Amino acid sequence: MIDVTGNKTESLNQEYHDETRQGEAFAPFAYDENRYRKLFYIESYGCAMNFADSEVVASILNKEGFGATQKAEEADLILINTCSIREKAEQSVRQRLQDLKKLKKKNKDLLIGVLGCMAERLKSKFIEEEKLVDLVVGPDAYRSLPGLVLDASDGQKAVNVLLSRDETYADISPVRLNSNGITAFVSITRGCNNMCSFCVVPFTRGRERSRPTSSIVEECKDLFSKGYREVTLLGQNVDSYYFIDEQKDETVNFASLLEKVALISPLLRVRFSTSHPKDITDDVLFTIAKYENICNYIHLPVQSGSTRILQLMNRTYTREWYMAKVNRIKELIPGCGISADVITGFCTEDEQDHQDTLSIMEFARYDYSYMFCYSERPGTLAQRRYTDDIPMDVKKKRLSEIVALQNRMSLENNKKDIGKTFKILIEGDSKKSDKDWAGRSSENKMFVFPKGESGFSKGDYVLVKAEDCSQGTIFGSIC
Ligand code: SAH
Ligand code: SF4
Ligand code: F3S
Repeated sequence: MIDVTGNKTESLNQEYHDETRQGEAFAPFAYDENRYRKLFYIESYGCAMNFADSEVVASILNKEGFGATQKAEEADLILINTCSIREKAEQSVRQRLQDLKKLKKKNKDLLIGVLGCMAERLKSKFIEEEKLVDLVVGPDAYRSLPGLVLDASDGQKAVNVLLSRDETYADISPVRLNSNGITAFVSITRGCNNMCSFCVVPFTRGRERSRPTSSIVEECKDLFSKGYREVTLLGQNVDSYYFIDEQKDETVNFASLLEKVALISPLLRVRFSTSHPKDITDDVLFTIAKYENICNYIHLPVQSGSTRILQLMNRTYTREWYMAKVNRIKELIPGCGISADVITGFCTEDEQDHQDTLSIMEFARYDYSYMFCYSERPGTLAQRRYTDDIPMDVKKKRLSEIVALQNRMSLENNKKDIGKTFKILIEGDSKKSDKDWAGRSSENKMFVFPKGESGFSKGDYVLVKAEDCSQGTIFGSIC
C-alpha cells in the first residue's frame, strides 16, 4: 500500500492510483552492497507510470554497476523522476532541487539528473534554469542513461529528450523498488493519442504505443512466481491497447489482454488504470464479469459533468454518454467500484456547469474521486485557445464543494458495505498497528482487521466481514 501525499486532494485515504505522489525515495528490497561500485538515489513524483519507469531506470543502472540507496547523502547519482501535470507538481520538484543543491556543495562529484515529464517539457532549458542539474532525460530515453552519466562525469551537460514511436522497454525487467512484495505495476502502453485540451501528457510522453503481449504476460507470470498476487496494468488509456502478434497471427485488444493475464492463475488479481470513458468497451466489461480475479473496480475519469465543458476539454463524450456508460458498468458488473478524476474551474466554467459536475458525481456515486483545480499548462490546446478565466478563489470554492460531496458519498458507500463479507488480499501490516492486517477488496476498498490467531500471511486471501467504517477504510474481522 502506498500512501497519498502531495497536492492531490487530501480528503481521501486512497492508496495506489495517485497522480501526484511526491518525492518517494525507493531502494530495492535486498540490496547487495558488494555487487555495486556506485550508488544512485531516485525520487519519483507523479503518476504510477512514473513510479513504474523508475523501476526500469533502476534495472538499467543496476546493469551498469549502480546500486540503489535510500539515502540521498551517500549517493553518487541523484535522479528526480518528475511530473508536469499541474503547476504545483513542477513547483515541488523545483523546491526539492534547492535542497539537493546543498548536497552538491558537500560532494562536488555528485551528479544530479532530472528524468520524466518535466525533463521532456523543458528540455535543455532545465539546465539553463537550474545550473546544478547535470542530466536531463526524457521518458523514452532511459536506455541512454549509462552513456549520459559517463558524459556528465566528464563534466559535460547531458541531455536526451528524444521521444520514440516504439519504445516500450519491453525487454527490461523492472527492479521492484520499495515493494510490498504482493502488488506491482506493469506498463502495457506508453504515451497518449488523445488530445484533452487541458493535458500536457501527449507532449511529455509522445505517441501512444502498445507493449508486446508476450512480454506483458511473461512479466506477470514472473511476478506471480515470485509471490506477487496482484498486478495493475498501466497506461494513460489502457482500453486502446492493441498489439498485432505476427508470429501467432493474432491481434490482441485490451479485453483479450486482460483475459490472458487473468488466466495466469486464479490467485493473481488483475487491476488496470486508466480507462478513458470513450474507449472502455462492453467486451472489456464482459471479461471483467467473467473472471473472478479481474477486480470489480474501474477508474473512469469524468473531468466535468457539463457537456459544454467536456467539449471544450475535447473529451469526446457528452454528459449523457458518460452516464449511460456508468449504467452499463453497473448492469454488467453489479457492485463494481467506480472512481473518477474531476477538474474544477476549467476555462469558462460557470455555476451551472459546476452544478452539472456535482450532479453527475451524485449520479455515479463514486467510491473515490481525485479532484483538482484547473492548472493551465504551457503548450496545451486550452492554453493556446482559451483564457484561464476562473479566479483561483472560485476554483477552490468549487473544489471544496466537490470534495465535501465525495467525502459524504465515500462514507455512505462504505456504510452500505457493513454486514457484508468481502474477499481481501492481505498486503501487509496496517499503518497504525502490526497487530492488524491491511488489504483491499476486489472493489478497491481498503480493509483493516485484527490478525488474531488465524495464521494468515501477507499475500493470502481472507474473507472479512465489514463491521465499521470511516470514509477511507472499512474495519472488520476475519470470518
Ligand atoms: N490518462 C488519464 C489521466 C492522466 S492525468 C486519463 O485520461 O484518465 C490524471 C488527471 O489529472 C486527469 O484525469 C485530470 O483530472 C488531471 N489533470 C490533467 N491535466 C490537468 C490540468 N491541466 N489541471 C488540473 N488537472 C489536470
Ligand atoms: Fe491526458 Fe486525456 Fe491522454 Fe489522459 S487521455 S493522458 S487526460 S490527453
Ligand atoms: Fe505527471 Fe507525466 Fe504522469 S505529467 S501524471 S508523470 S505522465
